[in-house]
Amino acid sequence: MSVRCVIGVQWGDEGKGKIVDLLAEESDVVVRYQGGGNAGHTVVVGREKFVLHLIPSGILHGRACVVGNGVVVDPEQLFAEIADLEAKGVKVKGRLFISDRANVVFPYHKALDRAGELKRGITKIGTTGRGIGPCYADKYARNGIRVIDLYDLKVFADRLRVNIEEKNYLLAGLGAETLDYEHVLREYTAHAKRLKPFVTDSVTMVNDAIDNKKRVLFEAAQGALLNIDHGTYPYVTSSNSDATGLSSGAGVPPACVRDVIGVAKAYTTRVGSGPFPTELNDALGEKIRQVGAEFGSTTGRPRRTGWFDLVGSRHAIRTSGVTELAITKLDVLDGFDTIRVCTGYKVGKKTVTAFPADLTSLENAKPVYKDVRGWGATTSARKLVDLPPEARAYLRLLERELGCVVSMVSVGPERRQTVLTGGKL
Ligand code: GDP
Ligand code: IMO
Ligand code: MG
Repeated sequence: MSVRCVIGVQWGDEGKGKIVDLLAEESDVVVRYQGGGNAGHTVVVGREKFVLHLIPSGILHGRACVVGNGVVVDPEQLFAEIADLEAKGVKVKGRLFISDRANVVFPYHKALDRAGELKRGITKIGTTGRGIGPCYADKYARNGIRVIDLYDLKVFADRLRVNIEEKNYLLAGLGAETLDYEHVLREYTAHAKRLKPFVTDSVTMVNDAIDNKKRVLFEAAQGALLNIDHGTYPYVTSSNSDATGLSSGAGVPPACVRDVIGVAKAYTTRVGSGPFPTELNDALGEKIRQVGAEFGSTTGRPRRTGWFDLVGSRHAIRTSGVTELAITKLDVLDGFDTIRVCTGYKVGKKTVTAFPADLTSLENAKPVYKDVRGWGATTSARKLVDLPPEARAYLRLLERELGCVVSMVSVGPERRQTVLTGGKL
């Protein structure tokens, strides 16, 4: 039996899409369990580049792909994604299964996301503007409309009317445009029809797959440090974006997953606001951004860049029980003389190695660095022996400091640009 989960152990964009695509080859079902259209998971197959937002990254291997109950689904974005995949020759129908229990993103969620950010001004979170926070807020306030609710016209129409009345009040207060109830009702009635062939009792489907010893792969979105509970609150996303979200977000027992694969870049990036102790606001940071093409897959925003932060990733590894690591974008550091890793933070007079909860400590944290020697080129490496000794020493340092074996090393965006270590760095 193989039930595995892939999560990011930094602030998102670690390369989860590439790793899930690789592991999908040996999986039967791939399941997203949280987040929504805020995610942007890139898979490069030959010359073709795919950016997946809602659809699991197993779709390119033709696997059964489940959008679990914990995901917030924007029908418009989903249809655009399906159209894009189909235009590139990828079959989606019969392979995509959307949970009947998933909450639906409405235009008022996106409008409130944008208006809320404008109101916050310099304290803005820097959200993706996809309506994620407001949709999850409605879910927990029990105002949400789930996929299944779209098919009970009376329930749907009544709930939508109450929601739009309330949201219009909020939008007007924020100085934003209000929405027309009849228009949204018509639009979403049409969306419901188009969505129907994909709607599934995903909880039964995924549990049946596990019980029948199918190979199930869970795919997290965002990163553990953007987790609503364990991340840099309030500069986080609105879901449990690590392995902790899997059980509630897919409706499976917490103990069903044995292997948790934590994906980390060989350095760190972050999009949006919030503390980032190892950030490089200098020419080196810009170099990493340019070489690593660090621009958001969803919004195109430049990503902030910095050195590997062991304090943050250790926290992520512990809270999710990560059992092995996939280190990506090692090639981006090719040719650097010295590589730095942050082993602790100086906060005031103290050196801390546990990830602080308070923002002020994180914002004032001075990284304590260990320096290691750089290496030549890694992009053409396919086997462990192809990696320069300095690169292997760097990876061993990460293994030691993080207490977790590095099983995969990615040296380029394509599938074949990967080294499997066999746990023997
Ligand atoms: P995700 O959200 O975690 O799936 O990551 P993104 O797709 O948002 O960002 C990762 C970016 O790095 C994508 O453009 C990938 O194609 C690219 N990428 C993944 N692995 C590697 C790698 O090993 N080397 C390089 N140079 N690029 C990579
Ligand atoms: P993937 O799955 C990187 C960030 C946003 C913002 C914060 C809250 O591609 O790794 P939200 O729209 O979720 O309310 O924004 O979270 N964020 C991501 N950063 N990768 C992502 O997803 C992200 N999804 C959200 O930039 O700082
Ligand atoms: Mg991404």
